[in-house]
Amino acid sequence: MSNAPRLLTTPAELRAARSGGPVALVPTMGYLHEGHATLIRGARGLVPGGQVVVSVFVNPMQFGPQEDLGRYPRDLPRDLQIAGDAGADVLFHPTPETMYPAGFATQVTVGGVSEGLDGAARPGHFTGVATVVLKLFNLVQPQYALFGEKDWQQLAVIRRMVTDLNVPVEVRGVPTVRESSGLALSSRNSYLTGEQRAEATVLSRALKAVQAAYTGGERRTQALEAAGLAVLAAHPEVTLDYLKVVDGDMQAGEMVDNNPMNRVLVAARMFGVRLIDNMPLHAGEGGA
Ligand code: PAF
Repeated sequence: MSNAPRLLTTPAELRAARSGGPVALVPTMGYLHEGHATLIRGARGLVPGGQVVVSVFVNPMQFGPQEDLGRYPRDLPRDLQIAGDAGADVLFHPTPETMYPAGFATQVTVGGVSEGLDGAARPGHFTGVATVVLKLFNLVQPQYALFGEKDWQQLAVIRRMVTDLNVPVEVRGVPTVRESSGLALSSRNSYLTGEQRAEATVLSRALKAVQAAYTGGERRTQALEAAGLAVLAAHPEVTLDYLKVVDGDMQAGEMVDNNPMNRVLVAARMFGVRLIDNMPLHAGEGGA
């Protein structure tokens, strides 16, 4: 058990708290779980004598009008405890008004990798993500920033932005943390009952079926996707958004090669909750 991190709420406080040494940033929307704790411990390991900053900000700009901004789970005292136990020095918890003051008029839109999949299903989502993440990078000026691979497309969008805009930060993706059932940890799992969580493991089972087909030698994209779709088809409670095999650029050809960046991504609505998950095609490579 370690000390609670310093709670800071304004950019001015954040600037004043900068240690001058190396800094690692873990951006989150809070309601922290073991996946976030893994990111924070990873950050601590990258800057042992430096500063670990965790941001907790439910970013309105990345939510669509019909999405769950209002009911997104929040528990700051618990977040402070989890972040502190995992090794955070600072927890930055700004208000929406601080992040987007009157007159705010700038947006960061990343093309290419942000356009399909969640970018298509959630218009404006990745612009909201890129804008807030660039603001956080500018405020914290970290050497490292850590993100979970569960949001695989988000990670690709952030990497693209950092490369294109020459942001001096090293982005690290961290493999997805799962329940023993296979369910990927997510703050949104808190919307589900125990029984519903058990049902939601169908998503990771579908991804594993794609991996198994790939391991069995299948290289046709459609056939790989069909292996996952067959698992989902037996579950009427799944309203599928997409199950797609993509390369590192979020593109899909007719055939896949052995590139370790090839991935299968799924998004579906179950019990009124939108859930996403992904795995590498090659079982055993990060996050599976
Ligand atoms: O992954 C998340 O929790 C959010 O999208 C992020 C990166 C913190 C930006 O709001």
